[in-house]
Amino acid sequence: MTAVAPHAVVVAGARPNFIKVKPVIDALTADGVRTTLVHTGQHYDEAMSGVFFADLGLRPPDHHLEAGSGSHAVQTAAVMTAFEPLLLRLAPDVVVVVGDVNSTLACALVAAKAGVAVAHVEAGLRSGDRAMPEEINRIVTDRLSDLLFAPSPEGVAHLVAEGVPPESVHLVGNVMVDTLLACRERARARPTLAELGLRSGGYGLVTLHRPSNVDDPEVLDGLLAALGEIAGRCPLVFPVHPRTANRLVGRLPAGLRLLGPVGYLDCLALQMGARLVLTDSGGVQEESTVLGVPCLTLRDNTERPITVTEGTNRVVGRSPDAVVAAAFEWLERPPPPRCPALWDGRAGQRISAVLVRTFAGSGGGQDLRDGVRELPTPRVVTDRDTNLPMRS
Ligand code: UD1
Ligand code: UDP
Repeated sequence: MTAVAPHAVVVAGARPNFIKVKPVIDALTADGVRTTLVHTGQHYDEAMSGVFFADLGLRPPDHHLEAGSGSHAVQTAAVMTAFEPLLLRLAPDVVVVVGDVNSTLACALVAAKAGVAVAHVEAGLRSGDRAMPEEINRIVTDRLSDLLFAPSPEGVAHLVAEGVPPESVHLVGNVMVDTLLACRERARARPTLAELGLRSGGYGLVTLHRPSNVDDPEVLDGLLAALGEIAGRCPLVFPVHPRTANRLVGRLPAGLRLLGPVGYLDCLALQMGARLVLTDSGGVQEESTVLGVPCLTLRDNTERPITVTEGTNRVVGRSPDAVVAAAFEWLERPPPPRCPALWDGRAGQRISAVLVRTFAGSGGGQDLRDGVRELPTPRVVTDRDTNLPMRS
């Protein structure tokens, strides 16, 4: 009898999700797993969604939930109510969710209650700051997940400390890095800098969108003043996230060059050419580390401390004086480039290997709503387990 291919529903909803699902879908497809791509519609502008499908060569979504914007409850509920009937119809073996956005939590919750296995890519990250909406999403999604794919060792440690069975946790590396390495040469070939009149090494890049930075006018004004002072020494370009654009109206910062949100390849090109990155983005902290570009994180904490201990990131807080002092210091004395061990471009393959091992032969059609299906016990994945060539 021919074995039926396993079926994975892969969920993406917001800008960083598109970047994270691409290597997972590619690896699953190469391994003969049937994938259904669901776009929740959390992000919907061409500049926040469409351009990523084009830049990444990501196939169009098979289903679009059109959830849109709203408060946390409204948005999460919109994704859940649209995803539930679709999931029941598709009856996959596993739902793969990535990252920490509201779409991640919403689809994990629907799948867990439908008795479908949940695989979380980017599991175990913790900022320790529950005022951050993503931290709630991370904790709950991990709690609901059957397979937890951690990008770095501290992610594994957090999960095990929280009581997740170690055999459910897989240290696989970082899917953002898979995509970056796959796209680096195409980004390098972009005319982005020339079109903006920028010289490589002659400017800084800013991205800001965390509610804690941009929703509080006092904090935002302080950060804008600091950025204005830094721009006096090093010109700054600032592709503005739509959340932030709404807040910048009437407080145009001096010395900052504002752009609309840029596409993925342009964003990589801007990071590669930057002398300094100032950000509150999770993904940009990771990318700047892999690119060896100095990064100052304008937050009080990070869920990605490995970019500090084994990368080029420094968490400087949000006090304007501290931000300016750190920027002036790193413009003069940048940190040496370093990169975490497993961030080697093969996370998607490791994830696929575990999913194949777990679901091979199951071929869909599992019981839905009849309680959580019993999963075979997975082992912690290593390069040896996945038959991938070891790096020297
Ligand atoms: C969301 C994620 C955040 C992630 C970020 C990536 C949550 C809780 N937050 O934050 O973790 O870092 O995406 O960029 O899931 N908007 C548009 N066009 C769009 C999308 C949004 O104009 O295509 C505007 C709307 O006014 C919306 C606001 O941006 O209300 C915020 O969007 P939302 O998805 O709620 O949160 P983000 O700040 O984007
Ligand atoms: N990014 C982009 N254009 C921009 C800003 C960011 O393509 O104008 C990319 C960035 O390179 C990274 C990802 O978007 O790959 C990070 O997403 P974001 O900062 O929105 O979310 P976070 O990572 O903080 O959740």
